[in-house]
Amino acid sequence: MKNINALARQEIVDMVPYQSARRLEAGNGEFNSKIWLNANEASGPGIYSINGDCINRYPDFQPNNLIDAYSQYSGLNNENILATRGADEGIELIIRTFCRAYQDNILICPPTYGMYAISAENHGAGIVKVPLVEQQLDITALEQQVGKVNVVFLCSPGNPTGNLLNKDDIIRTIELFADTAIVVVDEAYIEFSPQNTAANLLAKYPHVVVLRTLSKAFALAGLRCGFTLANTDIITLLSKVIAPYPVPAPIAEIASEVLSNKGLEQVKVRVQETIIQRNSLTSWLNEQTWCKAVFNSDANFVLFRCTDEKTKNSIFTILAEQGILIRDQSKQMQLAHCLRISIGSERELTVLKQTLATFTPSQAFNEVVE
Ligand SMILES: Cc1ncc(COP(=O)(O)O)c(C=O)c1O
Repeated sequence: MKNINALARQEIVDMVPYQSARRLEAGNGEFNSKIWLNANEASGPGIYSINGDCINRYPDFQPNNLIDAYSQYSGLNNENILATRGADEGIELIIRTFCRAYQDNILICPPTYGMYAISAENHGAGIVKVPLVEQQLDITALEQQVGKVNVVFLCSPGNPTGNLLNKDDIIRTIELFADTAIVVVDEAYIEFSPQNTAANLLAKYPHVVVLRTLSKAFALAGLRCGFTLANTDIITLLSKVIAPYPVPAPIAEIASEVLSNKGLEQVKVRVQETIIQRNSLTSWLNEQTWCKAVFNSDANFVLFRCTDEKTKNSIFTILAEQGILIRDQSKQMQLAHCLRISIGSERELTVLKQTLATFTPSQAFNEVVE
């Protein structure tokens, strides 16, 4: 394996990161025991009735309590963890660190999560597509891209397909690109199938990155908190590219609390409830005449294919008219006539089923003809 720095943009390797006041002198809860006059902040707790009496101070670059909590949860060392504004920021940082604009490429395996391509386009990186075959990696086609791409994005469980990638295929891909690219395994939905994580590959393969988030199983999408897990060389590079104070103090506080033992117990219960609802929705969809196929899901959503385009449009519209919003995935490669339903509460899914109870494909046809 090449030195990781050889895979990164040279100017990032050479760059000295911005020496923010909090990087030079971590606060670590000592805001009240020192006189802090080094960051042009206001003194005192301020006039606002906001929780947290140090809100007048910039937060630590990577708040200790948050990183300690995620370290305990993930079983990784603190230096292998970077907290970000959601997994989306992790995606952006990786592309900005390892791709030169208008020269380098990322590789994606569609149908897949849309932000890899959007972040690449924003940065000026090219996009090489190696489509999934029956929702799994096409290793032969991937082999042909070795040396032509700088970052490979795998998504397991995949969005919008929902299924896990075969672990052996993930390992083969990681080994294929060992000397030439960073391989990212996006595990935004891994809590719904935790035994299948690729995080245990980080120790063996220094060019692997795992993305995590608190937006899904942890029910904290509004918090904007995610984690990039990688070896220290990669974390050091990404830390040069990320904003100087990336994790707001109240976010760190809430996230640390949820990552406590009590919080994790609640997450486990919610995951089990979600899986029960998901399996029940899958069975129900399989019974519907307008449903051609339901994709296997290891996540908190179900993707299904309707019998035809008119039926798909009608289902989407009937639900939307009742204020029930699902996602049309039919524009994605291989996903003609496909819709995706997030697993909401039992009540929400009951309303969805009731709304579609009397729908038949012939209605879809009539609606369009009339
Ligand atoms: C596969 C995948 N990765 C990453 C994200 C982004 O997560 P976050 O909310 O942490 O930015 C999503 C969100 O839908 C996702 O589906």
